[in-house]
Formats: sequence, C-alpha cells, structure tokens
Amino acid sequence: MIEFNNVSYAYDKGRGVTNLNFTIDDGDFVFLIGPTGSGKTTLMRLLYFDLLCDTGTIKLGSFSSDNLRRKQIPLVRREIGMVFQNYHLLDDRNVFDNVALPLHVLGYRGNEIPDRVEESLDLVGLTGKNEHYPSELSGGEQQRVTLACAIIKEPDILLADEPTGNLDPVAAFELVQLLETVNETGTTVLMASHNYNLIKGRARRILELKDGALRGS
Ligand SMILES: Nc1ncnc2c1ncn2[C@@H]1O[C@H](COP(=O)(O)OP(=O)(O)OP(=O)(O)O)[C@@H](O)[C@H]1O
Ligand SMILES: [Mg+2]
Repeated sequence: MIEFNNVSYAYDKGRGVTNLNFTIDDGDFVFLIGPTGSGKTTLMRLLYFDLLCDTGTIKLGSFSSDNLRRKQIPLVRREIGMVFQNYHLLDDRNVFDNVALPLHVLGYRGNEIPDRVEESLDLVGLTGKNEHYPSELSGGEQQRVTLACAIIKEPDILLADEPTGNLDPVAAFELVQLLETVNETGTTVLMASHNYNLIKGRARRILELKDGALRGS
C-alpha cells in the first residue's frame, strides 16, 4: 500500500508539489498524468525517497517518512523498481551487464545472475540481445532494457516515469502492454505520462496533476 497524506515539497527555487493525498493498493495499475511541469517526476522522486517531503507523510508498506532513517532508504528502494525519465544505459556495457548491474549492487553473485537477466530480457521481449551495446539497439529496445533493469530485482512496486517519451505510438503502446504484463505478476505499477491518448480507454485508475496539485482531491 502506498499512502500520501498532505504531502508537499518545494524545490529551493519554488514549485514542486502541494498537499498531495492519495492511496494506491497493492497490485494496482495507476496512471499519473498532467502537463509538463505539473509535478509527476517530483511525486515519483518523493515515493522513491530521492526527495524528502517538507510536510506530510508518505507510507510505503511498513515504511513511513515520519520515522525513516537515512540508512533505511536502500531497504525501501529494494522494493521499488524505477524507470527514470532521462535514464541512460551505460554505453560501454552490453545489455547483459546493464541489466545485471542492479543485482550486483544488491550483492547477488554467481549463477543466479545469468538466469535472472535471461528472465527479465525474455519478459521485455529482448531475448538474444545480451551482447548488444546500447548504441546497437533502437530507442524502443533501449527503453525496454531500462525496464528490464527496473524489474530484475522483482520489486513490489514499479515506478515508470514517462517511459514512452521517445517512442513512436506503436512502440509506446507495446511498452504500456509490457507494464501491464509486469502488473499481472502482482507488481504495483505507477506510470507517469503526459500522453493522454496513450492511456485513455485503458480502464485504469488515473491520478491527474495540475500545477503541483492533484485534481479532484
Ligand atoms: N531540480 C529542480 N529544481 C527546481 N525546480 C524544479 C526542479 N525539478 C523540477 N522543478 C520544478 O517543479 C515543477 C514540477 O516539475 P516535475 O519535473 O515534477 O514536472 P513533470 O510533471 O515531471 O514534467 P514533465 O512532463 O516535463 O516531465 C516544475 O515547475 C519544475 O520547474
Ligand atoms: Mg517529469
């Protein structure tokens, strides 16, 4: 369960998000929409505890921003896969090494890694691309590799910040379908997008931000 209670955050130069209140149940698939600058990335960074809220409380499972200690942040992030808006793969490492990296960071070693990498690449439809370097992949394929990086640790929650930003409509549609596949395995998914066309008609819950506030709340 994700819970935001009266959450506000302002950057040094102003504007961030104001007085956010919402909950997301385990296993839900929710779209976060709103125009550029409306606060989608800020909300996701707060949820990832990359930014710490100025006021209010964020609860994520058994963790609460009220009493979270800095050294617990890596523990929270184990539960969260994040597809960053402007994430770039490491150009000097091939697909396999890029996708394996989060497991190395978590201290996995040995045999388990290749199997998990294989599984993640299968899920995103990139079987057989292990040896490719990012420059040898299309934009859509690179985006799917970033998704594989986010899901390899089997997170409870997947945050995808504008994951379809640079994709054509067909590839964008396929990426949303992939997120739905991940959701079917039980992972809670929150996907940010300013492309309303992509998500309308998908019968999913929509949270809408405008000028840093949630509409309708
Ligand atoms: N690092 C920062 N320092 C100062 N202000 C920031 C910073 N990041 C974002 N902002 C401001 O906070 C507001 C919300 O930005 P945010 O990045 O959350 O929007 P967004 O909805 O993700 O937009 P986009 O669709 O363009 O990605 C904007 O007004 C932006 O200018
Ligand atoms: Mg953004």
